[in-house]
Parts: sequence; structure tokens; C-alpha cells
Amino acid sequence: MKPAPWSAIVSHDTYLDGVPWELFARMRDAGGPLWVDEPDGAGFWALTRHRHVLRAGSTPRDFSCARGIRLEELDDEELEARRTMMEYDGLEHARLRRLVGAGFSRKSIAAREDAVRALAVSVVERALEHREVDFVSAIARELPIRMLCRMLGVPEEDADPLVEWGDALISNADPELSLAVVDQVDTEAYRLLPFRSPAAVSVFDYASRIRRERLQRPRPDILSAMLHADAGGRPLTELEFRNFFLLLIVAGNETTRHTLSLGLLALMEHPEALRELVSPDAPRPLFELATEEILRWTSVTMHFRRTLTRDLEWDGAAMRAGDKAVLWYIAANRDAEVFPEPDRFDLRRQPNPHLAFGAGRHFCLGAWLARLEVRVTLEEMFRRIRSVEPAGAPDRLRSNFIHGLKRLPVRFELR
Ligand code: HEM
Repeated sequence: MKPAPWSAIVSHDTYLDGVPWELFARMRDAGGPLWVDEPDGAGFWALTRHRHVLRAGSTPRDFSCARGIRLEELDDEELEARRTMMEYDGLEHARLRRLVGAGFSRKSIAAREDAVRALAVSVVERALEHREVDFVSAIARELPIRMLCRMLGVPEEDADPLVEWGDALISNADPELSLAVVDQVDTEAYRLLPFRSPAAVSVFDYASRIRRERLQRPRPDILSAMLHADAGGRPLTELEFRNFFLLLIVAGNETTRHTLSLGLLALMEHPEALRELVSPDAPRPLFELATEEILRWTSVTMHFRRTLTRDLEWDGAAMRAGDKAVLWYIAANRDAEVFPEPDRFDLRRQPNPHLAFGAGRHFCLGAWLARLEVRVTLEEMFRRIRSVEPAGAPDRLRSNFIHGLKRLPVRFELR
């Protein structure tokens, strides 16, 4: 039997030419969740409507994280070796999230605005010494990792290796960034490592060293607090800590970077919106709205997966316990049922109930930090320039999971 056209959303190659928006639109129009065959997996239900994604994300009783949150099937041994708070439901998840929740709350992050701004100013000013730069490496790649290092209490001179390891992990389907390309070489030897990537060994060694240091000499940082907190009647084990550290580095770094780069690309493709923001009297609330629209428009973590715990029938789709369900946040964010003219980039879109940060208990831990970094970087960049335009074609990441850019050549005109 011929596979349904939807199967193209599984192929990493599909995304080299950009997000398959038309295909996602046809999937939404079909109404209910659609079954998608996978070449190397059991297949899954694709949820592309906003209301389906929101409901699945908000009902962990029916849509569990415990069998994994990526498309890949994991056996019990692999799951246990790689488990983080993302792969727990209920109390276990709450217990782990509590260890870091306060440090990333809206209030704690608001108190860091000056620090984020100072960092943004130094990164932006250094980049603007050149008229033409690759925006990804000069600005977008620099800021999130350096801020994360400061928050976690990791020396900033370690930012470069951490970025490289993070790239190799999350971009494990792109041959330019990973030696162990998941769908092209045999990665069996790495099956107990996050993302099936050998780069995880470097991150784990690094995390173990930090753990030893912080256990001996605690400091006023998030990692020390995690290690000395009560994680349910006991401290975190070394494996738990290493996986936790890796999660924070990966989740907090690439995502914001790609949001910044794709956000600038969107603005350059919408010159009127760009002009409004570059104007010297663009108010802060406009940057706040613009940040939300950039998040909706770019949706850099395109999907996360759940597993059904019971049989459910939604809009004609007979889903069975044990089936995988994939929540396509990026498709839900263009659902006309919720967003009028969803394919229009609207700087002032309000309300903007996008799902770029997910929904429910696993709602992004770093949402307030990411919002702050995107807004402040744009504010500081736009206050120093008259205009910015493409200086070459953007280079897209090969991934069905991360919507990202490897390069974005731009040319600035300074004030
Ligand atoms: C624009 C940037 C970001 C985007 C688009 C994004 C997206 C997401 C999404 C969609 C989820 C939900 C996962 C699921 O449904 O299973 C999530 C969870 C998470 N994010 Fe982010 N994220 C961003 C930035 C950050 C930052 C800066 C951090 C900082 C450390 C971070 C840390 C996390 C963590 C730890 C989780 C897991 C939360 C849990 O399981 O309770 N993210 N993120």
C-alpha cells in the first residue's frame, strides 16, 4: 500500500527546504488526528489542530510522557538511562521540576533583566563592528549559552565547548553538526546516551566534575541548589544530575538561538514590521507582542510525543492504548480556528495563545527566560541600526524536530 502523503513530515530531508506548511494545512483540514507511517518505527497519530494539541498536552492521564517524548522508540533500559523530568508524569515530574522551578519563575527572571541586557549589549556591539555578519554565530548563538552559564554558575569560558556538544546532540540528524547522524549511520553503540549521541559523554564528564565541585563547595547558583535540595527524601543521584544538566544545556540554548535567528528572518521578510521595530520610538509593549508573534511563527521545537494510556476516539480517529501521539506545536500555531489569518505575520497579534512552549505540566521551564532574551536582544540591536537585510540565503538545519538555521548572513546599516 502506498504510504499517505503525511509521511513526508517524518523525513529529516523534508525540512531542508523549510517547514512543509501546505502539508500541515492539509492535515489540519482533514479534521481529526491522522495516522502517519514511519519507515523506522511503529507509526503515530499526528495532532495538528490547536484544540487537539492543547487537550493532549493538558491531559497527562491519557497522554503520558513515560515512554519517551521523541519519535524514537526506546526500550526500558534506554529509557531508564536517559530519563529526565520530561519523561515523568505526575508526582515524580513535580518533584524534579520543583528543584529548579524557582530559579526560572517569572519573578526570578524579571530580576535578571539588567544582566540579560548587559550581555545583549556586549554581544550586539561586538557583532556590529562588522557591516556583514552571520547572525547565527555572531549574535544568536552567543547570548543564550552565556546567560545559561551565568545562571547555572558554570564558567563562561566553557560556553564554547558546551555549545558544540549541544549542537551535536540536538542536531543529531544533520551531518554538518554530528558525526553520528541518527538515520544514516549505525548508532547502536550510543543507544543508552541522550539523542543516541557520543557528544553526551563529554557533557556527562563535564557534569560529573561540576557535581563533585559543588558538593564539596556549594555556591549561590542553581546547580548547587539542585544538588543540596531534597529530591524526595534523598539527593539527586549522579545519573539524575547528569541527565538534568544535559537537559538544561540543550533545552535552554539551541531553542532560543533558533527563535532569534528565525525571528530576524521573519522580520526581514516583513519589512513593514521590521521598520516599526527599528524606529527609535518603538515602545516596549510592541517588542513584547512581537516576541510572542515570533514564538508562534517560528515554533522551534516542532513537536513532542506522548503515548496513549487508554483507547480514545477523537473526531473519527480511533486511538488505542500504547499508540504514539505526536503533538505538532508548529502546525497548531497556524490553526485558523484560533488565529485569524494564521499565515500573516502580525506584529500586534492579540490574543496570541500559541503553543510554542507546549501546554500543561510540561510547559517550558525556560519560557520567561527565552522571552526576555529574545525581546532584549531585538531591542538592543534595533536601537543601534537603521536597517538590516539578508546578505545571502539562510541555511536550514536538517531535522524533523528542531526548526532551525545554521547560518543567516545579514548586512546592517548603522544609525
Ligand atoms: C524559545 C525558546 C524555547 C522554546 C520554543 C521551548 C519549547 C519548549 C517546549 C515546547 C516544551 C514542552 C515539552 C513537551 O511538551 O514535552 C519545553 C519544555 C522545557 N523547556 Fe523549553 N523552550 C525554549 C527555551 C527554553 C529555555 C531557555 C530553557 C532553560 C533552561 C528551557 C528548558 C525547558 C525544560 C527543562 C523543559 C521541560 C519541562 C518539563 O518537562 O516540565 N526551554 N520547552
